[in-house]
Amino acid sequence: MFHINNIIFQRRFLHKRISEVLCIGIRFCNAKSTNKNNKSSPPEKSPPPPPPPPGTPPPQTKTKFGPLSDADRIFTNLYGRHDWTLRGALERGDWYRTKEILCKGREWIVNEIKTSGLRGRGGAGFPSGLKWSFMSGPADGRPRFLVVNADEGEPGTCKDRDILRHDPHKLIEGCLIAGRALAAQTAFIYIRGEFYNEACNLQYALAEAYKCGLIGRNACESGFDFDIVIQRGAGAYICGEETALIESIEGKQGKPRLKPPFPADVGLFGCPSMVTNVETVAVSPTICRRGGKWFASFGRTRNSGTKLFNISGHVNRPCTVEEEMSMPLREIIERHAGGVRGGWDNLLAIIPGGSSTPVIPKKVCDDVLMDYDGLMAVQTSLGTAAIIVMDKSTDIIKAIARLSQFYRHESCGQCTPCREGVPWMSKIINRFVTGNAEPAEIDMLYEISKQIEGHTICAFGDGAAWPPQGLIRNFRPEIEKRMKLYADKLPKKETVRLCNQGRK
Ligand SMILES: Cc1cc2nc3c(=O)[nH]c(=O)nc-3n(C[C@H](O)[C@H](O)[C@H](O)COP(=O)(O)O)c2cc1C
Ligand code: SF4
Repeated sequence: MFHINNIIFQRRFLHKRISEVLCIGIRFCNAKSTNKNNKSSPPEKSPPPPPPPPGTPPPQTKTKFGPLSDADRIFTNLYGRHDWTLRGALERGDWYRTKEILCKGREWIVNEIKTSGLRGRGGAGFPSGLKWSFMSGPADGRPRFLVVNADEGEPGTCKDRDILRHDPHKLIEGCLIAGRALAAQTAFIYIRGEFYNEACNLQYALAEAYKCGLIGRNACESGFDFDIVIQRGAGAYICGEETALIESIEGKQGKPRLKPPFPADVGLFGCPSMVTNVETVAVSPTICRRGGKWFASFGRTRNSGTKLFNISGHVNRPCTVEEEMSMPLREIIERHAGGVRGGWDNLLAIIPGGSSTPVIPKKVCDDVLMDYDGLMAVQTSLGTAAIIVMDKSTDIIKAIARLSQFYRHESCGQCTPCREGVPWMSKIINRFVTGNAEPAEIDMLYEISKQIEGHTICAFGDGAAWPPQGLIRNFRPEIEKRMKLYADKLPKKETVRLCNQGRK
């Protein structure tokens, strides 16, 4: 009974509400139409749009990107042709008016980085200004740390090492400016163990900077104290992952931490920290000197700036080059690396952003743009912008199988999908190389990779899953052809047995 009364009450209430809403609607429409018909009243002016908040990159109006002029290059000693010590660095414009930049304050630096549209050059492409602003909260008594990621373990990637050995002062000056923006008084540069010469040059440049008062107490006479510590790693790929890197600096095994807490809250030695890539830090002094708007004038919106590209593999002149973002992939290769061996038509496929990014076939490479959005649209990624070119002589299945072996070897083993799934994928692809597998296993491999992707503590799992996914998406007929060839070579009895196994 109560239930029925309740329903009747609810219906009446609802009816009343509907009438009220309708009345308001009619009044609103009338008001609008009177306004329209009243010719004497001035026309309604829409208020001017509010100015964009500080730190918003200006919109891009260009439609053609690259080639970069020499005057716009940030890394002017990339090939080590000039003096890399302080004297040479000063001649090239490093350490120019650094004190003024520091004195402009934290907020100014962070806004300039935001305006530049710079995105992290370590692989994930997270907006750097935003990342730097995560550490802008009030001091809580704990020291803050800047941690520079110079591990550079991603196969195909060799850009940071060129900065370390040929332009170390750009990085040191960048540390000081980034440190000021984060209110950090110490930076740790974690450098890959194998980079012996790079570590030596960096250490030498650091000693020069200390000697001339550019860093240390009252750095550049700005009143800001800043120290830099160089820490050499032992060559494990996983130590490039930001939390594994922190663990490694703390003297523990390089195993990634669960997030949250994020390093900006609880990082190195339990203190707020920001881990960032060498290139990201090294471009920041030039951005502050020439202005965020200048940097944002390169590349498409959301893909701003100049960028170091590594071009390796089957090209005539493998090289590292600084170019404008959003330049077509084909043009970068033809202009700077002398083109694909045997001509563009001899191209089979390209891995566009270091080993963990999915491979793309020639027809996609023909007109894809080298930036975050362009590569995402074709189901791959800019990653570290390490372009690995493979011509038609490549056994693409074998190439991806080799990468899978690498990931199998480098997994830290903390999470089950990665520890068990990556070796499983590697074993299956190894059989694909000879063709000793069933067509149904192609989908099985894809499914395993999907079960790893996004289900692990760190992004290593994704990086291990993407190469086989790229292979299957773009070269499935090649894998099937190889299986058929293998099956055709088998004696009849063996084929029947394999087919039966497949049906099970
Ligand atoms: C397995 C793995 C290895 C990584 N290796 C590197 C590396 O060698 N160098 C690097 O800068 N970032 C590396 N990263 C990305 C870092 O975790 C981090 O995102 C990056 O240093 C942030 O810098 P950015 O904001 O300047 O891009 C790696 C990530 C993963 C998952
Ligand atoms: S994904 Fe792999 S490398 Fe990363 S924490 Fe898990 S097991 Fe370790």
